[in-house]
Amino acid sequence: MQILVTGGAGYIGSHTCVALLEAGHTVIVADNLCNSKAETIDKIKQIVNQGNEANMDNKITFYKIDVTDEVAVEKVFSNHKLDGVIHFAGLKAVGESVEKPLAYYYNNLVSTIVLSKMCLKYGVNKFVFSSSATVYGDNTVPFVETMQLLPTTNPYGETKVMSERILTDAIKANPDFSVSLLRYFNPVGAHESGLIGEAPNGIPNNLMPYVTQVAKGKLEKLRVFGNDYPTVDGTGVRDYIHVMDLADGHVVALDNLSNGVHIYNLGTGQGTSVLQLVKAFEEANGIEIPYEIVDRRPGDIASCYADASKAERKLKWIAKRDIVEMCLDSWRFEQQNK
Ligand code: NAD
Ligand code: UFG
Repeated sequence: MQILVTGGAGYIGSHTCVALLEAGHTVIVADNLCNSKAETIDKIKQIVNQGNEANMDNKITFYKIDVTDEVAVEKVFSNHKLDGVIHFAGLKAVGESVEKPLAYYYNNLVSTIVLSKMCLKYGVNKFVFSSSATVYGDNTVPFVETMQLLPTTNPYGETKVMSERILTDAIKANPDFSVSLLRYFNPVGAHESGLIGEAPNGIPNNLMPYVTQVAKGKLEKLRVFGNDYPTVDGTGVRDYIHVMDLADGHVVALDNLSNGVHIYNLGTGQGTSVLQLVKAFEEANGIEIPYEIVDRRPGDIASCYADASKAERKLKWIAKRDIVEMCLDSWRFEQQNK
């Protein structure tokens, strides 16, 4: 299939491009590079074709465009006979979304509207959307797709709830359209080559990139946000999933897409606390991570992990890589990434 991957130069998008290309699909990337670099496209080619990048030129095409720009997006739809769209492009920093709500609502919602409008106009009826476990709010773990969603605590989370709603309503009005809403838990890790991974700008907000920067000596110590949650050791529990497992989840979601709206949790089903993750990283890589316990971070919940059984039942997909592999691959990327 020929797949438009918006945000394909970003963290999850680049790994998914690798998985799609390895599964034999052709990829068109649309990214404005607001949180990524064009070199990532060359690295994707390098991984897939092992050094013979020239052969990849007809397999992956890159457009540096903003996917809220309807005219630019329409050019892509008219230049290529697309079979489907995977929509990763979005702004994702929770704290920044509180400071710049309009930028988040505009970028994340207009992009979803423009892309679904073009899909309907050009008869592209497969759409896979990057949603998030954040839509569950502070629910009871494990989170199941059938649960009633509880309020989110920030504009970023609201853009995911609203995008899910926009796509669900588009389906009701257009029964030939098919959408998969993939609710990701906490993606970490990197491609085993160490060529692509997560390289956040400035000081990382997320736990794993913070840990790898402490390991590298770029940051002095980890601040653990609270040890008085009702969890195994008082620190926050999350469902960390290797980004390559997540990437594979997109390929199977696309391959299995049928008419209607389909919601899947993509997680491991295992909860890991902050201190358990620190210990796993230390043991896997033989590096000590100094840390201090500080106050809770506003907006955090105690526990978030998936009931991942629907994806296993319906898509025959399970996350295969364990926490050790996640720690090894995250650290390899940090060391190689300049
Ligand atoms: P990322 O920032 O690495 O990738 C997003 C990409 O989209 C970047 O390359 C950026 O340049 C691009 N982009 C943003 N706005 C754009 C626009 N208007 N037009 C064109 N390109 C644009 O983020 P990621 O971690 O790869 O996340 C991908 C998607 O998954 C996002 O929608 C995010 O909200 C969602 N998600 C991420 C996580 C996570 O923890 N990483 C968890 C749940 C959901
Ligand atoms: N944490 C620390 N110190 C840090 C960073 C994080 O103790 O420096 C803790 C947090 O308090 C939390 C856990 O580590 O308990 C994970 O925090 P992250 O910031 O890595 O991830 P979140 O679960 O807060 O959020 C992430 C993404 C969201 C997404 C959500 C669910 O950032 O965009 O996962 O998929 F919505």
